[in-house]
Amino acid sequence: MTPAQAMLRAATGLSLSRTVVERAIRHRMARTASRDPDAYLARITPEELEALVELVVVPESWFYRDPQAFQAAAEYIVARLAAAPERVARILSVPCAGGEEPYTMAMVLTEAGIPLDRFVIDAVDISQACIERAKIGVYGRNAFRNQDLGFRERHFTTSGDDEFRINDELRTRVRFKQANLLESELDARSGSYDVIFCRNLLIYFDKPTTAAAIAKLDQLLRRDGLLFVGYAEVPSLCQNGFAPLPYPLAFGVTRESVPERRQQARPAAPARPPAPPFAPPIAPAPAAPPRRATPPAPPPPARTSPWAPATDLLAEARRLADLGQLREAEGKCRDYLALVPDSADAYFILGLLNELTKKLQLAEDYWKRCIYLQPDHYEALCHLALLAETNSDVATATALKARAARIYKRQQAS
Ligand SMILES: C[S@@+](CC[C@H](N)C(=O)[O-])C[C@H]1O[C@@H](n2cnc3c(N)ncnc32)[C@H](O)[C@@H]1O
Repeated sequence: MTPAQAMLRAATGLSLSRTVVERAIRHRMARTASRDPDAYLARITPEELEALVELVVVPESWFYRDPQAFQAAAEYIVARLAAAPERVARILSVPCAGGEEPYTMAMVLTEAGIPLDRFVIDAVDISQACIERAKIGVYGRNAFRNQDLGFRERHFTTSGDDEFRINDELRTRVRFKQANLLESELDARSGSYDVIFCRNLLIYFDKPTTAAAIAKLDQLLRRDGLLFVGYAEVPSLCQNGFAPLPYPLAFGVTRESVPERRQQARPAAPARPPAPPFAPPIAPAPAAPPRRATPPAPPPPARTSPWAPATDLLAEARRLADLGQLREAEGKCRDYLALVPDSADAYFILGLLNELTKKLQLAEDYWKRCIYLQPDHYEALCHLALLAETNSDVATATALKARAARIYKRQQAS
């Protein structure tokens, strides 16, 4: 890992490829008229580091992304509030990107008949630019990728042809804050959230960082609360003390030790004393294809290679990819394929390498070959689904996610 990669990882937790980091540094050097990368890095200020962070984060989000998660959360909250009429439900969206996720939750809750004063939504992101955009609450067409746009009619006003402003009534229900999930800024909120959305962040972390992030989420969640993650993130949660909930396509989990919470919300232990509030929403005022982090570790090869030492080639390919030596990594994959021509994992890694260099069509072809060779290759299915989502191909993404979820469930059961 280069010093610059290490610096940005320390600031964000993100496993960033060398290519992404170097591109961000070049961009900032041009903006600050710096000539020497070493001198630029040696003199970096907190503000400059923040500017670099803005260039490496992936603020990709849209309204009603994976709608089943919001429905499941609303169902749970309705039941909890019915069981405790004096309570206020607390929801956290971290990371919230430009606010699409927390505002969706606010829309779903009001449409489920929950009065505005019965819920509080906190929303957090490391990106200050995202938080500013979210507070303003104005969105372009790209934030509306679902076919049914009735919610836009109900909760937004148009301001210009391609601009939609969320109604103030909902906007003021969400309290936004810039913070890093991995730092202690949210600790005061420990144990207070009934529902947490932490979707599409852990995929950018390595294993130890993922475990640290899950420990934070665990700390923030009420004893019997629900946590919603991205579909490729469920396995990490299950390796860290959580168990999947049986809501289809919602990708919800709960702590392993608390059984049967789905059917009926039960009274919870009293929350800890309230923490200092988030900054209040601001007064009325006027979302890039995903860049992904270091590839997740592929599962063990589906078939046992008759050439045991050759498997080292794949491990070496992954190591080189982590170092940003993509061409060398590709060479190792090809050497491996020369020995084991039907290796699904080698094709999976080739897909990741091409994705990193933005050759998305090639990446897709490799992942398709991977699932042709190994139809239950969970990670390849997840990556294909992400790609379909990026291309706004909702039907294909939904089908791939459903298939990945079935495979995951099967693997859990066996
Ligand atoms: C792909 S978006 C996910 C948004 C939303 N949860 C969703 O699924 O649509 C990832 C977001 O994570 C934020 N992020 C990255 N590292 C973070 C960290 N350590 N703490 C909080 N937010 C972080 C980025 O700024 C970016 O907006």
